[in-house]
Amino acid sequence: PITPVILCGGSGTRLWPKSRKAKPKPFIPLVGETTLFEQTVARCGDSARFAAPMVVTGAAHVPLVQAQLGDAPDARIIVEPEGKNTAPAIALAALRLPEDAVMLVCPSDHHIADGAAFAEAAMRAAELARDDWMVSFGIAATAPETGYGYLERGEPIGERAFRTARFVEKPDLERAKQFLADGGFAWNGGIFAFRAGAFLAELERHRPDMLGRVRAAVEKGSEDGRCFHPDGTAFASIEGDSVDYAVMENTGRAAMVPADMGWSDIGNWPALRDVLATGDDGNVVRGEAELVDCTNVMVDSDGPRVSAIGLSDVIIVVDGDEVLVTTADGAQKVGKLQGAANQ
Ligand code: GDD
Ligand code: MG
Repeated sequence: PITPVILCGGSGTRLWPKSRKAKPKPFIPLVGETTLFEQTVARCGDSARFAAPMVVTGAAHVPLVQAQLGDAPDARIIVEPEGKNTAPAIALAALRLPEDAVMLVCPSDHHIADGAAFAEAAMRAAELARDDWMVSFGIAATAPETGYGYLERGEPIGERAFRTARFVEKPDLERAKQFLADGGFAWNGGIFAFRAGAFLAELERHRPDMLGRVRAAVEKGSEDGRCFHPDGTAFASIEGDSVDYAVMENTGRAAMVPADMGWSDIGNWPALRDVLATGDDGNVVRGEAELVDCTNVMVDSDGPRVSAIGLSDVIIVVDGDEVLVTTADGAQKVGKLQGAANQ
């Protein structure tokens, strides 16, 4: 079976005021009744295919992870002494697994509408990972987003898989536009499959300094119930980096599995609105609201009733003592608001 490695690290400030430092994006219900973290765990819940998950997170979020994991008896938690980005986080998990374990690295803050398509792509990715491919999920690119990695489709590898001819993390707008126009590129969905030993070998090749320090942190680490605590001093000395830059851009064994699974990383409020909108007017209401002559308006209120007339492409969020009002375009800047910084 495949071991899900679930990463919970980001702060999700662009979804402020719902997402706050104390309770960030993965741990709040944004789509449906359960949280994105719970949905991520549930997506890998079929025990015929998946082993118990390994969650990598910071100390501050362990209580939330514990509560939302429920009593999944074999689930394990790796508690990072501090955030060093995704490459060290994945290396921690790889070092705690048998060499031949296939890891499915999953962000904890994405929405995937089609769970069956996800599972199918995961099975194909796992097959490739067993052959030591470093596998990404390719999402059809629909806009020149600069916050994503881009995968250039290379030669086919059997059915439903390709070599990744090039992996370009977060290109500037001009290159992103070229990639989109070219048509041979997909977005990197941020989900990866690796054989643990193969991942460590690639990290050794490209970032031996990082691997050495993560290894030291694991060797000096300690266990406490289902939590594992790597050594803080060794971990602090790591120069952090993402798996995209540290490994995926450099490996000669990159492969991709195209996945059409209703993926969204819910990077901001308009993205959440687009996931939730069902009607022709494009409006989304959570909580109490009255919208008159509005289109593409999202209201999310945990208390007061919100009334709005004649707006389009506006987001209104009421959460406790905070109110956010922004245009859809302005929503990119939410993370820079003072409220979001202080939360
Ligand atoms: N445990 C842990 N520790 N998790 C982390 C850390 C860390 O230090 N840093 C980030 N994460 C988690 C985040 O919570 C998220 O679930 C996932 O790892 C990815 O990190 P992001 O910071 O959200 O990455 P990104 O969105 O900028 O870029 C990645 O995802 C894109 C798709 O959403 C890249 O893989 C891109 O190539 C990709 O297109
Ligand atoms: Mg992200």
